Amino acid sequence: MLHFNTTESILFEDSLFEDKYLSPEVQANLHEGYRLFPLRSNDFERGYLDVLSVLTEVGAHSIDTWNAQFQFMKKHNDTYFTITIMDELTNRVAATGTILIEHKFVHKNGLVGHIEDIAVDSSHQGKKLGIRVIEALKFIGQATGCYKVILDCASKNIPFYEKCGFAPKESQMAWYI
Ligand code: ACO
Repeated sequence: MLHFNTTESILFEDSLFEDKYLSPEVQANLHEGYRLFPLRSNDFERGYLDVLSVLTEVGAHSIDTWNAQFQFMKKHNDTYFTITIMDELTNRVAATGTILIEHKFVHKNGLVGHIEDIAVDSSHQGKKLGIRVIEALKFIGQATGCYKVILDCASKNIPFYEKCGFAPKESQMAWYI
């Protein structure tokens, strides 16, 4: 699909998923000046990757590498649900998070939601945006029919996730290539 993204003009805007997966309650509970969206094709220009950089190294991207990844996710948008909370004053992304929906044989073809890549821009931290991101992703987990939603996090973030309704369970393992 062709995109005409330039800093001067935005001629086309594509959303990752339908608005029915956006929690009305989260939208209503956001402070004035913030708004919940699905990831959109022009969020490259709205600083989406800058926000992610508070989490980890993002690497150098061009508009083409952005579009390639966005279109991959859009093609699999029963699996990838990335939300943004926008700062409407600046039209920049203030916070983001993703839930991946895994299809399993166990639990009678059950679905598991995996929360990933939670990031609140440092200038917006401490304003309840992190908690709203998690609430928005839990809503998607319920709306898609997941029987559980899980995540991995650093020990220092455990109190934050406990405030979001999660409880520690078992251990995380990792193998880096
Ligand atoms: N430790 C303890 N409590 C915390 C922490 C923390 N690290 N962060 C927030 N809280 C508390 C707040 O004090 C607040 O408590 P209250 O309701 O009693 O007032 C509550 O949690 C909600 O806080 P928010 O304002 O919603 O938090 P914020 O918007 O700052 O987002 C986040 C928190 C996401 C951890 C943010 O600081 C951030 O982006 N950090 C850097 C990236 C990161 O670590 N992301 C998580 C990676 S794990 C993953 O992606 C699955």
